[in-house]
Amino acid sequence: MAPANRARAALTHAAQKAHQRSEGPPRTSREALSTWARAHMPDRELLVLSNREPWSHVQGDDGPRAVRNAGGLTVALDAVMQALGGVWVAHGSGDADRETVDERDRVACPPGRPRYQLRRVWLSAEEQAGYYSGFANSALWPLCHVVYVRPRFALSDWEHYQAVNRRFAEAVLAEAGDRPALVFIQDYHLALAAKYLKEARPDLQVSLFWHIPWPNPEVFRVLPWGREILEGMLANDVLGFHIRRHAMNFMDCVSDTLEARVDVERMAVDRGSRRTWVRPFAISVDAEELSVLADSAETVRAAERIRGELGAEGCRVVLGVDRLDYTKGLTERFAAYDRFLEKHEHWRGRVVFIQVAVPSRIELPEYRAVGDSVRAWTQVLNRRFPREAGPTVHLIERNLDFRDLVPLYRLADVCMVTSLHDGMNLVAKEYVAASPDLDGALVLSPFTGAARELEPAWIVSPYDQEGMADALAQALDTPEAERRERMGRLRETVLRHNIFDWTLEVLDTIVGLGLRTPAAFRPPDAPDANGTPAAADGTPDAGGDS
Ligand code: F6P
Repeated sequence: MAPANRARAALTHAAQKAHQRSEGPPRTSREALSTWARAHMPDRELLVLSNREPWSHVQGDDGPRAVRNAGGLTVALDAVMQALGGVWVAHGSGDADRETVDERDRVACPPGRPRYQLRRVWLSAEEQAGYYSGFANSALWPLCHVVYVRPRFALSDWEHYQAVNRRFAEAVLAEAGDRPALVFIQDYHLALAAKYLKEARPDLQVSLFWHIPWPNPEVFRVLPWGREILEGMLANDVLGFHIRRHAMNFMDCVSDTLEARVDVERMAVDRGSRRTWVRPFAISVDAEELSVLADSAETVRAAERIRGELGAEGCRVVLGVDRLDYTKGLTERFAAYDRFLEKHEHWRGRVVFIQVAVPSRIELPEYRAVGDSVRAWTQVLNRRFPREAGPTVHLIERNLDFRDLVPLYRLADVCMVTSLHDGMNLVAKEYVAASPDLDGALVLSPFTGAARELEPAWIVSPYDQEGMADALAQALDTPEAERRERMGRLRETVLRHNIFDWTLEVLDTIVGLGLRTPAAFRPPDAPDANGTPAAADGTPDAGGDS
């Protein structure tokens, strides 16, 4: 390309990007979030705590190599920490993690362009087996998702869970020193961390976000240590869930299990001298970054290259992107795909199905069984519905880098999210954000948190095989104008509420509810959200809790 043309192309591209950024409703940007934090949390450090680390170091041929972990939670919070700075405490799970930390077990992240510190916590194989594979993923995970996989409750797993939660809390305490801090804990691995933190430092502001569903009391009551889990969680100042239903389920479990005042009107639980506020906040993705990346010439080229490699020229593309987890409804999806090709004959040979299946928790037999099932289904479908140009189903069984995933989103005419139960499901939102040309359709399970917001999708139960086969056919057969109109509405919803909006909402609620909490529910030496200590006699503050 001649230099003048190159310059013109670059300018057009820059103008397109600027237009995309300014298009649509006002939304929170990275910069706005960091301005808010400077104004409202000037004296407090942000400490994030999660099991999974955002960046791992793995051994490469030329020494340790940094890898960004692809999980929805870590990707979303990495963007937030880049905006806000602070310290993120997480399990160091990479095989070169120990080589890359300093003497305080810290490494600056993102590697190469540091914006925050990652403090790694080391777990032995035994601790990892009991706390992570055991109590978190064999007891709490099936218990909370209610998908007919029986939870396993083992005393030794529970003991490891408590011990590891204490270890994480100790690492946070070491990071906080004696300074004020806002600790933001993530997920079901760390239900007890707040309790240990508050025992040592009652003045810390501590909140937990529960990223998976919360069951109703009928289900919850089988957990032998239900009382202890609830007590641990009630050490938080604010508890967040994705949707209102899960927040309400949590409060119902408290009122069935503990002696506490459950105030449904205020959405607060008062127990002894503590108050915990309970709130729903729907998490999202960095929608703008995804949209701009999906619209780049590089992505469009990569999408077309993949189409050629898969022999999908002239075909429509159906996509699934999931961890290999029994909650994602993968067997149900493959069975429905089989029924779709059987019933809607005109699509045979004209659709290619790509399933990205990210290996997950493979130490557990239930997870290995999901892998076996999708592999078997892939063979069945490819045998039953052969195509000349290539396979009908492509199973990509590995963890894809974000840059490799976005072209697949861009290529897909339909994305299928068929979770049997899911707190939110960020794949649904990523797909929508990565469809800037409006050329796409989302088939979505009603049992995801995302379905509450993404109503213009083709919503269908994964338990209804016939319905799913028909919904897929409809998504493909619907005239282009309607498909584009529906995708336009989905995009506006996702762009309107991005990951920075979510963070700002959560942090602003923590700060705002801290102001509202009556002094009787604050420890005597704990400052309120403005740094003002509570009255020594414990009398409620003037504002009260209206
Ligand atoms: O859905 C719960 C969750 O913790 C997500 O937030 C996260 O992306 C996923 O599970 C990852 O699981 P793991 O850390 O076990 O790979």
